Amino acid sequence: MSRWTDQWKEFVRETSYVHNLKEEKISNDQFWRSYGIYDKILMHSGYPGEILSKISSFISPKATFLDIGAGTGAFAIPLSRKTTQTIAVDPSAYQLQILSEKARQEGLTNIITIEKEWKDVQPSEISCMNVSGAGISGVENSGVDYSLAAYSLFDEDIEKFLTKMIDVTKKGIFIVFRAEGVDSLNEFAYGPRPYADYLCLHHILKDMGYPFDLILFQRDYSLPIDLLFKVYRSSKKGRDELLGHLSREGRLQERADGKWAAFSAKDALLYRIR
Ligand SMILES: C[S@@+](CC[C@H](N)C(=O)[O-])C[C@H]1O[C@@H](n2cnc3c(N)ncnc32)[C@H](O)[C@@H]1O
Repeated sequence: MSRWTDQWKEFVRETSYVHNLKEEKISNDQFWRSYGIYDKILMHSGYPGEILSKISSFISPKATFLDIGAGTGAFAIPLSRKTTQTIAVDPSAYQLQILSEKARQEGLTNIITIEKEWKDVQPSEISCMNVSGAGISGVENSGVDYSLAAYSLFDEDIEKFLTKMIDVTKKGIFIVFRAEGVDSLNEFAYGPRPYADYLCLHHILKDMGYPFDLILFQRDYSLPIDLLFKVYRSSKKGRDELLGHLSREGRLQERADGKWAAFSAKDALLYRIR
């Protein structure tokens, strides 16, 4: 155990949304069902934006791809346009339903979904039909060429999570996680909490003997106030208090269609290409 693995454990146990599920006694799937605004937030926030283009530039055509915690398919859907086969793992049936509906609308037939937490997936489940030359050889091939975990590493035993991910991947591993400090609105809404960012993961990977490369991405965006209230719906602060905080920080914008709030976010892409 290092201070970095301890920091990660504390973050997952005390701060992450997984902790809130325990407090509210709801399942991961119930959370995502009640938080049906995820794709709306993505639409406004410019995510995954440049991160997706960067990852896509590393992935060779006809590769196989594993998306751990694929959610509604922010990466899995666009990347499946170039992969032979994509495996999307997520414990939420609701999130996978949205992903599958998007795949259906796009006519993508190369996505397999596994409704499980990553820790419960057997390495033998991560196998794809191999492609040789011009056609599909029909030979089952264990492991995948590339894997990704984007804002989905919710496991107290992060070394085990990462080791399994590395073990099933042949060519390239991608991890996306936050690079900025805590938004002051978060601290205002929920009080100070244990924190972890990409540096923690970077150190853990290095200590495990896997130095990763790193690129940071900046996103500046705005959210309509009604959407913001839904994001902060479990805060004990009232709507006027949240607005007051944003106003004091000069982050409130008056537009023809109502109030909007300004945000600035930084994401880190950690990657290791073999
Ligand atoms: C914030 S969303 C990110 C979704 C997607 N990767 C993206 O970047 O838009 C987190 C997702 O991770 C999933 N998740 C949570 N814990 C997980 C675990 N232990 N293993 C795999 N997925 C998990 C959740 O169900 C959710 O869909």
